[in-house]
Amino acid sequence: MRRVEGKVALVTGGASGIGLSAATLLAREGAKVVIADFNVEGAKEAAAKIKQQGGEAAGIFLDAGNEESIKAAVDFTVEHYGTITVLFNNVGLTNLHKDLDVVNIDLDEWDRLMNVNAKSVLLGSRFAIPHMIKAGGGSIINTTSMAAFAGDSTRSAYGASKAAVANLTRYIAAQYGKDGIRCNAVAPGLILTPAAKNNMPQEVLDIFAKFNALPYHGEADDIGYTVVFLASDESKFITGQTIQVEGGHYMANPSIADFNQFLEKARNQ
Ligand SMILES: NC(=O)c1ccc[n+]([C@@H]2O[C@H](COP(=O)([O-])OP(=O)(O)OC[C@H]3O[C@@H](n4cnc5c(N)ncnc54)[C@H](O)[C@@H]3O)[C@@H](O)[C@H]2O)c1
Repeated sequence: MRRVEGKVALVTGGASGIGLSAATLLAREGAKVVIADFNVEGAKEAAAKIKQQGGEAAGIFLDAGNEESIKAAVDFTVEHYGTITVLFNNVGLTNLHKDLDVVNIDLDEWDRLMNVNAKSVLLGSRFAIPHMIKAGGGSIINTTSMAAFAGDSTRSAYGASKAAVANLTRYIAAQYGKDGIRCNAVAPGLILTPAAKNNMPQEVLDIFAKFNALPYHGEADDIGYTVVFLASDESKFITGQTIQVEGGHYMANPSIADFNQFLEKARNQ
C-alpha cells in the first residue's frame, strides 16, 4: 500500500515550487489531488502531468485572498472526489519592495500579506474541517517559514503573517484533535523554487549557503516529502508541530561561519 493511498488532498499554490512538488509526490503515493492556483493553466498542466504518470489529479482556479474562492476550492474537492482528508494550505506571498521595516512598510501591503498568507489558512481550514469531521479525521498542513521564528531587517509583514500561521497551526490542532484532525506546519528555509531562483541574485544565495550547516541549498522536494509524511498515517501521533526544513541554517550559533573563518586564520598564523 502506498503512503497516502485513499486520501483526498487539496493543495493550494500547487502549480509551482513547493506546492507542485507536494501535489506530485502525494499523487505518486496514492492520494487523489486537487491542485488549486491563481495560475489555473499551470494547475491544469500539473494535473495533466500527474495523470500521464498514472496518478489522479484535477487543476482548478484559486484566489487565496478571496473567501468565496477558497470555499469553492474545498467544495470542488468534495464534489469531485467525495471528501477532503488532506489540506495543504501552501499559498504565500512576499514582496521585497513594499514589505519593509516597521517605519517604512506599505500598510496596504501589510493587509494584503496578512490576508493571503494567514487568513487563507484560517479560511481553508474553516471550510475543510466539517468535511474532515464527517470523514472521521484528516490532516491539515500549513506552509509557514523560518521567517516566523527570527527577526529580520525587512519583510515585517511576511514574518508576522508566517508567525500567525505557525501559531494558528497549534490552535487548529488543539481545537479539532479530538475529531481526529491533525494540524502541522512546515517551515522552509531558503528553497530553490523557481520563485526563489528568479528573485535572488547569486550573491544572496551565497550568503544563505554560507550559514547552512549542509553544503547545499534546499529543493522543493525536501518540503514535498515532509508534506507526504505529515499527510500520511506515519505521522498519526504528531500534531500542532512545525517541522523546520532548513538545512541547519538557524540551529547553531549564528556567528559560526565567521567564527570558523577566524579559527582558520588563527591556525594558519
Ligand atoms: N521558496 C522558499 O525559499 C520559501 C521559504 C519559506 C517559505 N516559503 C513559502 O512556501 C510557499 C510556496 O512558495 P514557493 O517558493 O513554492 O512559491 P512559488 O512562487 O514557486 O509558488 C507559489 C504558487 O502560488 C500561487 N499563488 C500565488 N498567489 C496566489 C493566490 N493569491 N491564490 C492562489 N494561488 C496563488 C502561484 O501562482 C504559484 O503557483 C509560500 O507560502 C512561501 O511563503 C517559501
